[in-house]
Amino acid sequence: APTQSFYEAVGGEATFKRLTDAFYEEVAGDEIMRPLYPEEDLAPAARRLQMFLEQYWGGPHTYSEERGHPRLRMRHAPFTIGERERDAWLRCMRSAMDTVELAPEYDQVMWEYMERAADFMRNS
Ligand code: HEM
Repeated sequence: APTQSFYEAVGGEATFKRLTDAFYEEVAGDEIMRPLYPEEDLAPAARRLQMFLEQYWGGPHTYSEERGHPRLRMRHAPFTIGERERDAWLRCMRSAMDTVELAPEYDQVMWEYMERAADFMRNS
């Protein structure tokens, strides 16, 4: 029998859209995060994060079709990311994941990834 991807198991596109919309709502109100984004409109950034996470968790590869290889560390090089920024990012993501309420076993797996990936993005 075919096995379901993590992407499908947690509810597919609708779930990742809710997650990244909630994340960027937090960013919009966060005094550490918001200044990192020069643009008025956070929707394009929300969509890039949505596409990336969908691809990472076994969904469609729209991210790479539009943006190429993720190279996330390189793409974050323009921003100073220290412990403070990492922690602010994770605070926004924890709140977004609480909104989405994945089943506990999926929540745990995704959160462990977020913690690792956010730390990997530190460059200061
Ligand atoms: C951009 C993912 C951590 C700040 C992006 C993009 C992705 C992404 C996919 C868009 C890249 C592109 O295609 O241009 C992630 C993931 C993270 C993470 C998966 C960790 C789990 C962080 C952290 C910060 C940060 C810790 C700083 C606090 C930004 C900013 C942008 C960005 C300011 C530019 C907005 C944009 O153009 O999309 N991130 N990021 N990210 N990230 Fe992150």
